[in-house]
Amino acid sequence: MPPHERAASRTAVLVCQGRAAAHGRLAPGRFADPVAEDLLHEDEREVVEQVRAETPPTGWPARTAYEAVRACAEIVAARTVAIDDAIRTHPHQQLVILGAGLDTRAWRLGELADVDVTEVDHPASQRDKRDRVGARLSVARTLRFAAVDLEVDDLGEALDAAGHDVEVPTAWLWEGVVPYLSREEVVRTLQALAARSARGSTLVVNYQTPSLRARLGRRLVGLLARLGRQEPVTAGEPWHTLLTPARMARLLVDAGFGVNSDEDLLAVAGRLGLDIRSRTSLQNGRVAVASRH
Ligand SMILES: C[S@@+](CC[C@H](N)C(=O)[O-])C[C@H]1O[C@@H](n2cnc3c(N)ncnc32)[C@H](O)[C@@H]1O
Repeated sequence: MPPHERAASRTAVLVCQGRAAAHGRLAPGRFADPVAEDLLHEDEREVVEQVRAETPPTGWPARTAYEAVRACAEIVAARTVAIDDAIRTHPHQQLVILGAGLDTRAWRLGELADVDVTEVDHPASQRDKRDRVGARLSVARTLRFAAVDLEVDDLGEALDAAGHDVEVPTAWLWEGVVPYLSREEVVRTLQALAARSARGSTLVVNYQTPSLRARLGRRLVGLLARLGRQEPVTAGEPWHTLLTPARMARLLVDAGFGVNSDEDLLAVAGRLGLDIRSRTSLQNGRVAVASRH
């Protein structure tokens, strides 16, 4: 493959499996994603059904995949609720979802009926998403796609071409993407967003804090998959950028955003009354909400 070509994101599939596994089980009444399962291929649904039925498979390669989806369900349930709440609290006429993966908001959030949504993602992941979505109708006022590799492409130009209006305040959503970019790409992306953010725009960003335990846990999952002769989900998608809340606040402020809130997912999961098992992962995942003044 040429240097910047890559396969569609497998971590995007994992988080979609997590949402499908959580739907109707975790935080009912607060979390729901009835669309997630429809976006999965048949072979990706099997483990989701096992988690939903709480019937772990025998054999540790299958068990490792089961535990990954089970843990992911807990994390994405909390992070989805935190983000959906932030989007509802800061309504704007435009929503841009960066690194959208298999995000289902444009197909499930009724609040987007008056909103123009643009999904930005790496070309390979976006092609895969569009194949999976097929003819399913979005609930948003409009839905557009911009294929952008944040490593090399000009985000501003791509958003211009997609019809994003710089004069109208925008809600930016950046979920589950920051760790996969270099620090320089994170800063460049923030600057591109700030340059296109009319006064009052809102940025909702999910990021990971540095944690030795989380890093070792990821290594262990990779090792177990390899021992079972499977390619780990995370193989082509290493983490590069983990940030403390203070560092993230600095980056946001330097780019011209003021931080309104920044909370870890453990607090969100606690409020939702989840039966918490993945404490470390929840504690290391955060959602910050910032405004362009
Ligand atoms: C873990 S998935 C998260 C997907 C989605 N935001 C969610 O939370 O369900 C990571 C996403 O980041 C995207 N991504 C990673 N590196 C990227 C890059 N250089 N340019 C554009 N998108 C990228 C992947 O394509 C993938 O969709």
